Amino acid sequence: MIKVNKNYNKLPGNYLFSEISKKISEYQKQNPDKKIIRLGIGDVTKPLTPKVIEALQSAIQEMSAKETFKGYGPEQGYSFLREMIAENDFTSRNINISADEIFVSTGAKEDTANFQELFDNDIKIAIPDPVYPVYVDSNVMAGRSGEYVNGRYTNFVYLECNKENDFRPDLPKEPVDLIYLCFPNNPTGQTATKEELEKWVLYAKKNKALILFDAAYEAFIKDSSIPKSIYEIEGAKEVAVEFRSLSKTAGFTGTRLSYTIIPKELMIWDDAGNQYELNKLWNRRQTTKFNGTAYLIQKGAGAIFTKEGKKEITSIIDYYLENAKIIKDGLSTLGIESTGGINSPYIWLKTPGNLTSWEFFHKLLNEIQVVGTPGSGFGKCGEGYFRLSAFGERENVIEAVKRISNLK
Ligand code: MLT
Repeated sequence: MIKVNKNYNKLPGNYLFSEISKKISEYQKQNPDKKIIRLGIGDVTKPLTPKVIEALQSAIQEMSAKETFKGYGPEQGYSFLREMIAENDFTSRNINISADEIFVSTGAKEDTANFQELFDNDIKIAIPDPVYPVYVDSNVMAGRSGEYVNGRYTNFVYLECNKENDFRPDLPKEPVDLIYLCFPNNPTGQTATKEELEKWVLYAKKNKALILFDAAYEAFIKDSSIPKSIYEIEGAKEVAVEFRSLSKTAGFTGTRLSYTIIPKELMIWDDAGNQYELNKLWNRRQTTKFNGTAYLIQKGAGAIFTKEGKKEITSIIDYYLENAKIIKDGLSTLGIESTGGINSPYIWLKTPGNLTSWEFFHKLLNEIQVVGTPGSGFGKCGEGYFRLSAFGERENVIEAVKRISNLK
């Protein structure tokens, strides 16, 4: 008899964004004439930029000729792209990361979800709350969670983020082996200072722990005092893996390209104290389970590292940041507290009138047809909070703020 992986029974019925999308479809079906404004899932609305399109078109030409056609590519990504990433994201910012420490992939979602495969099932994991649900669910599926009791898994160490700590996680009170961090944060929009990241790097070094640092939103950091990479912190190359993505940076949510940085210094251990190079382990994993990101897409991605390409994506990021400001200012005028929205595309707000996150979700959908994401979907500490994303069209963002202002 074929048996189920029982860990799947411990998961919530639906993945958060699938649940929301189901509710929107149901509402739209019953109210076909209502115009819904979607500020829920962080999906971009601006198309790919001209330089990216040009590169994609030229790659299609290459694929159409026998002499330039490409079949399987390197699982780690083509060296032209890995070198461009190393130079533009790191070397030019005085961070020493080489091309062979960069693994090109199809999304930070899949890489952050898959990375836990490299670790023993008995490790202690620290997870911020609220958090991007992929980190939690992927470890639940792998059998590391323990039981689900009162909205929490018994084996995880939750790093509570709330108003008291300004939505920045404190160090765990008990030793942990793996730590998930995301800055600028999804969902709170909060950023981390250099001093805060230094504290985490020091902790990881002392405890022989590993940090999985999700930097998917680094492109939104405009304040030069805020680190864009954890490798700006001395010693981080010995304790941190970093995930980056072109989804929000360059409008690749549907096109799919991300990259994961695994410095060669990174080691993990077995019970006997033998050490293993993480870079080699991930390479082993990828070469077995992944046949590389499409050549076309890698060529398209390369265009964003050119001078013109950089200019194009910067103007789109500025557009989304201006949306974020419009939302944040609008909420502030209404006396609604929020974090994020500066150096981040997400605005995290306290629900008015002490409504639960889902009550507020339904109120916005039913009364003014604005969609956001209930904070409780990101964890227990998210209850009573709500996330709005700044990736909409300008006129829709302005209209959404107007509708929220008129909410009874
Ligand atoms: C979000 O809305 O949290 C993100 O778009 C989800 C993702 O990047 O997978």
